[in-house]
Amino acid sequence: MRTRSLIPLFSASTVLLLLMSVGVSADDTTLTDNEQLGKSLFFDENLSVNSNQSCATCHDPAAGWVGPDSMINAHGSVYEGSVAGMFGDRKPPSAAYATQSPVLHVDKKGLFVGGNFWDGRATGEKLGNPAADQAQGPFLNPMEQAFADSACVVYEACMADYPVALVDVWGADACDITWPATTGTICHTVGGTLPLEPADRVTAGMAYDQIALSIAAYEGSSEVNAFDSKYDLSLVGQAQLTKEERLGFALFQGQGKCKLCHISSGKKALFTDYTFDNLGIPINSENPVYERDPDFVDLGLGGFLLTRDDYSGYADDYMGTHKVPTLRNVDLRPTDDDVKAYGHNGYFKSLWGIVHFYNTRDVLPTCPGDYTEEEALAANCWPAPEVADNVNTAELGDLGLTYEEELAIVAFLTTLSDGYTP
Ligand code: HEC
Ligand code: HEC
Repeated sequence: MRTRSLIPLFSASTVLLLLMSVGVSADDTTLTDNEQLGKSLFFDENLSVNSNQSCATCHDPAAGWVGPDSMINAHGSVYEGSVAGMFGDRKPPSAAYATQSPVLHVDKKGLFVGGNFWDGRATGEKLGNPAADQAQGPFLNPMEQAFADSACVVYEACMADYPVALVDVWGADACDITWPATTGTICHTVGGTLPLEPADRVTAGMAYDQIALSIAAYEGSSEVNAFDSKYDLSLVGQAQLTKEERLGFALFQGQGKCKLCHISSGKKALFTDYTFDNLGIPINSENPVYERDPDFVDLGLGGFLLTRDDYSGYADDYMGTHKVPTLRNVDLRPTDDDVKAYGHNGYFKSLWGIVHFYNTRDVLPTCPGDYTEEEALAANCWPAPEVADNVNTAELGDLGLTYEEELAIVAFLTTLSDGYTP
C-alpha cells in the first residue's frame, strides 16, 4: 500500500500506523478515519467537472456497487460521464471485492493475474494496490468525472466539509498549497488546468496519491466487503439455503465448472481468481461506443498488453480476454424490477441468460446478426463472439445442464447478495 512519494512526508512506521488506525469516525463507527475519508470522496459529486457525478453514480451500493440505472443497464450499459454526451465503452464492474486483486503479474503457470478494470490496466504498480491505481483514473477520464487537472480533485477535497478531512488523515501538509484565486472556476470548466507553482504541483501530486489510497481503503473496508450474504451466513449456521439453492451450489462446483474461475471454496470466498478469459461474449450492439467508432472492438487484456514493452509479446494470447469478476452481489438491485447488465459490455440482462450462454454457447446455432440477448433467446441462437481469438472452449460452452439445473444455478447466485437478514 505504501508509495515512494509518501516517504518524504512520513516515516514508514507513521504510514503503517495511519493505515492501521482504528480511530472512530464521526458518522460511522465501523470505519477507520482513513476509510471514512475515502467514503466521503467516493460519494462526493463535487469531484467532477460539472459537480454532478461521484464514484457512486456508477458504483451504487444499492445495486451491488455497479451502475443502478435500469434503463441504461437494459440497453447500452455504459454510463454517461459528467459531461453530457460523453460515454466510455464498458459496463461498470463491482467496486466491492476488488481491492484484494494482486498487482498484475504473470503467475507460476504463466497466466496473467490481478489488476483492476476489465483489462487489468490499473496494475497496482504505481501505488502498490490496483484499486488505488484505479481510483486515480475516473476523476481525470473525460468520459467520467472529467477534470483536466488532478490538482482540481485535491482542491475540492481540501475545501470540502467532510466528517474526516484530508488533513486529519494525511497531515496539514497535504493541503498546504497556494491556490490561484479563480481555482474553482478553472476546475469546473471543461479542459481547465491550474497554473500552480512547481512546489505546489509536487504537494498536489502527493495529495492525489493520498486521495487514491484513502478511496482504496474505503473500498477494502468491511462496509464495502460485508461478506454477509445468505450464502456466508449459511456457512456459519445462521441461515439455510433452500434445496434448489443447494443444488445450484453443487452444480456451480461441479458440472457447471463455475468454480474453476469464480473460486468458491472456504469462508470469505471472492468468487474470482482474478485471471482473464475470453468467454466469447457477443457485442452489445446498443453500446454507445459504436456511434463514436463503428469499428470498435474490445481487445480486453490483450489490448493493454500491447501498450507495454515488457508484456507485448503475450498480447496475442490475451486478445478478447477480460478479468473474472466477483459474483458477489450479482443479483443485488435497488428494486426487484430493476434490470442489471452482465459481462464487460453488458450484453446479458439476466442471470439466466448468462447461465444459459455458458451451458449452450457451442450447442446452439450462430444467430444471423448482432442479436440482443432478448432476440437471441427468442431465436434460440447465440451471435458470434466479439473477439473470435482465444475463446475458452475447455471450460464452458456445452455443459449439458437441464433448464431446471440452469435455474438452480441462478437461485444459488441470488444467495450472494450482501445484507441478508434471516
Ligand atoms: C461514469 C461511470 C463511472 C464513474 C463515475 C466511476 N466508475 Fe469505476 N468503473 C466504471 C467502468 C465502466 C469501469 C470498467 C472500465 C474498464 O474496465 O475499462 C470501472 C471500473 C472500476 C473498478 C474496477 C473493479 C475491478 O474489479 O477491476 C473500480 C474499483 C472502480 N471502477 C472504482 C471507481 C472509483 C473509486 C470511482 C471514483 C473515483 C469510479 N470508479 C468512478 C465506471 C465508472
Ligand atoms: C473460464 C473461466 C470461467 C468460468 C468457468 C465461468 N466464468 Fe463466469 N466469468 C468469467 C469471465 C472472464 C467473466 C467476464 C467476461 C467478460 O465480461 O467478457 C465472467 C462473468 C460472469 C458473470 C457476469 C458478472 C458481471 O458482474 O458482469 C456471471 C454472472 C458469471 N460469470 C457466472 C458464472 C457461472 C454461473 C459459471 C458457471 C456456469 C461461470 N461464470 C463460469 C470467467 C468464467
